[in-house]
This record gives sequence, structure tokens and C-alpha cells, in this order.
Amino acid sequence: MDRRTFLTDLSRYAALCAAVPGNWPLTARPRWQSTPFALGVASGDPAPDACVIWTRLAPDPLAPLGGMDRIRTAVGWEVAHDEAFARVVRQGSYVAAPELGYSVHVDVQGLDPDRWYFYRFTTDAGASPVGRLRTAPPPEAETPLDFAFVSCQHYEQGFYTAFEHLSREDLGLVAHLGDYIYESTSSAGQVRDHYINEVISLEDYRNRYAQYKTDPALQAAHASCPWIVTWDDHEVDNNYAGLVGENIFESEGQMRARRAAGYQGWWEHQPVRVPRARSWADLTIRRSVDWGALARFWVLDTRQYRSDQACGDGTRRVPCGEWAEPSRTMLGDAQERWLLDGMAASAAKWEVLAQQVMMAPFDGDPGSEVFTSMDQWSGYPVARDRLLRGIAQRAPGRTVVLSGDIHSNWVNDLRAGFDRADSPVVATEFVGTSISSGGDGEEQPARVTRALGDNPHLHWQNSRRGYVRCRVTPDEWRAVYRTVEYVTRPGAPLLTPSSWRCGHGRAGVERVG
Ligand SMILES: [Fe+2]
Repeated sequence: MDRRTFLTDLSRYAALCAAVPGNWPLTARPRWQSTPFALGVASGDPAPDACVIWTRLAPDPLAPLGGMDRIRTAVGWEVAHDEAFARVVRQGSYVAAPELGYSVHVDVQGLDPDRWYFYRFTTDAGASPVGRLRTAPPPEAETPLDFAFVSCQHYEQGFYTAFEHLSREDLGLVAHLGDYIYESTSSAGQVRDHYINEVISLEDYRNRYAQYKTDPALQAAHASCPWIVTWDDHEVDNNYAGLVGENIFESEGQMRARRAAGYQGWWEHQPVRVPRARSWADLTIRRSVDWGALARFWVLDTRQYRSDQACGDGTRRVPCGEWAEPSRTMLGDAQERWLLDGMAASAAKWEVLAQQVMMAPFDGDPGSEVFTSMDQWSGYPVARDRLLRGIAQRAPGRTVVLSGDIHSNWVNDLRAGFDRADSPVVATEFVGTSISSGGDGEEQPARVTRALGDNPHLHWQNSRRGYVRCRVTPDEWRAVYRTVEYVTRPGAPLLTPSSWRCGHGRAGVERVG
């Protein structure tokens, strides 16, 4: 780490850690020109007695610092039983600071378990939109959960019609598996405007999040229930691995600085409860979220600690080069140990891996040769099979892996290692498509159809946009794929191309619709 990066990180860390005094002198502010709540509100990481609520003051969202003036600003917050805020149960004041982009994160404590609340923020300009949050059930409860998972919302490639539909589902939770923003833009397939071609600095990342957050459908989806958010590559740089960027000419120092900016931008815009970092470039976001005794969500980070993609990344014929080296890792040692030890100790009915890249292999080349992605778990075969054997020992028949990243829907059997054809099925993977990335998409690309025979663990594939709705009970897991036929113009109706069921304790998945 070079000294300048270290000092920059250190000052950001100091800002992050600063206990803002309650009696901070606040300069009288001239009247707001427009609402400071243009980015909406959000809640996340629900616990039985707590939930994070979020907003960011940005009266002019795309201006530097969202149009704020570098003066610290008090923001009121309220949590109530009713939408009219007649029965307020918790309230307080938060001092929003320019060092953290005027983001507001309140970890509201002392709430009742398994209960809906309303929340809002206030300034002298008035109140924010109202959001709804639901606390998690108490630790012993097996209360059913209805949730959806989403990923990949490239703004200029499509409208967020899927979020309009998602907001009307009666959900207790949304899991976002990453690619919440894209750091780069493509002129191909552009149906909405963008402002910066390649985001590098903290100011750039803030601008990008602000643009995405102005979308009303995204705001409505956030306001409808708490989210659990992780990141993928585009929150920093396409297909980065640890400190190796997409552009091989970027030095490790430059990548550390870019990670620091990207990670801070992510934190400032998400309703998350993650530990304070030693530096922004090392922000640790892995965590678990319990839904009573029903489900434990293991929220993973498959970007920050992974070995560089083998054989120059891309799709490669395997074996090749260092592809099967046992030392190569996807999660990093500490996260892998945390996950496997945690799963061994967990008494949850369902273990849910909320993560980024597809875990099942996909051989895209019909015939005896294997042609597969270096960026997905198939590019890290030893680490993948080690994890799958760990699942086989700890939680077979009650583990579900949720994935995103590749802008298409897949339903896969996960075996206790894919290195042997006779390994038993131990878990199910549901891969969810993009919200908008890639434009309208299609039902099933010909290259997938041609390769189905070479991938017997693959039950279904579809490349439309949308999300996956799940209903989880102690006895079964149901997954319903929701799609829209187009995103390059607004208003597509909602379709349900397939539905699936996993019985608790019985590995494997069956189609039910
Ligand atoms: Fe993506």
C-alpha cells in the first residue's frame, strides 16, 4: 500500500468512526431549493429487535455532494406503527456529514419481533417518503418467509419494470445479489441517459448511485420492505479479483484507491449493518441474517478475496493453466472458514447462500471437451468442490444457493463436488436474471439449448429480465420465476415462466409450474 492511499484511507476511516456529538453547532441553513430526499428511503438487515433505515440528503442528486454545502445537517427520523405517524415508537436525530456523502444510517433498536413498521426522515424542508420495514421473527419461530432476490440493474440498458411488479408482491424481504450500479457504460442498447462514462473517484461513484437511486420503481421497491444487499464486481470494476482490475495496466495501488471509493460509495447508499473497516478498501460485508429459526442468510463476498481468474479470464477450454490449482480461492480462507464453521453450528431449517456467481458448472461446448466460465465458480473448481463437500457434510437437503451476475435464469442441482459424475445431489441453486442489464433478452439462447445434453444438472434456463420470488416454510422451498418480455420500453406485463419446489431434507428440485 502506498503512503498516500493509506493516509486517504485513514482519513476516511476517521470520518467513518467519528462519533458525531449531539450538540454539534449547526449553521442556520437557507430554505431548501428542492426536497433533500430525492433518492428515496430504504431499510435493511432486519433483526428481531432492530432494522437499519437509510436515506441520503441530495437536493440536487447529480451535483457534487448531491447539491449539499459541506455543512453538517441534522435529520430527524421516526418509526411508527401507523402510516400517519400518530403512534411513533422510536425517534431521534442524526447528524449527516459531508465526509460520508450526507448519507443517513440509523440502526433502530428496541423494536418488537416479526412486525411491520413505518419510517420516515424529516428536515426543516419537510418529511421524506414513507418506507415500510418488517423486523425478523424471534429466534425460535419458524414463521414462513416470502422474499424475492434480484441483481444487475444496468440503468441505461432498460427500465426497472421488474421493480414495479416486485413492489406489488407481498414480500417480507428482498435480497440484492449485486451489480446495483455499473461502473462503465455501453452505448449499445442504450435506452436511458447516463452521465459519466467510467466511474473512478468517490465523487463518480456517488454520482452513479444517485442517478440509479432517482428511479421511482427502485425507490418503491426499497420502500416496500427491508433489503439484504451484497455487491458483485460492477460496484467497483468489471470482473475484478481482489486487487486485480479488469484493466491489467491498473496498479495494485490504483485498485486499492478504486476499491476504497467504490466500497465507500456502496456503503453510503445501502441500508446495511456491516462492521467498521480498518480502511474503506478493506470493508468487510460478509454477514448472516436470521429469519427466526426458519432460514439463515449467509451474505457472501466473492470478489474481494478471490484469486485472479485463471487462464486470462473469459470462457476457456479446461483444464488450462492454473485453473485447478488447489491454492486458488473464491471466498478467501477467513470467509470460507466462517461460512463452513457457521453452517456446522447453525440450527436453522434452511441455509441460504446469498452470493454472486453461478456455482454449478456449465459446459457450453457440446461434445467431449469442456468449455466454461473463468469468472464463475466453474473457474475455481477446487474451491467450489471443497465448499460443496462442506455443504454435503453440514446441511445436505436444506441448503439453497442464490446467484446472480449472468443476466439469465437457471435452476441447477448442486452435487457434493462436480469432479466425480456419481456425487450425490446435496443442494439446489436458483440463479436469478437481471432487472435490466442486457436489454430485452430472449427465452433461451441457442448456445444454451445446444449444450443442455452436456449439463445434466441443469433443469431450466431462460434469458428474460425479472426476479425470483420465493416462499419458504419449514417443509418446503418454492421458487417462482417472474419475467418481463421487454425492458427497452416501459410497461411490460409480468409473466411466470416456471415454478419449482424443494422439500426440506430431500436434496433435489422438482418443477411444479
Ligand atoms: Fe451484471
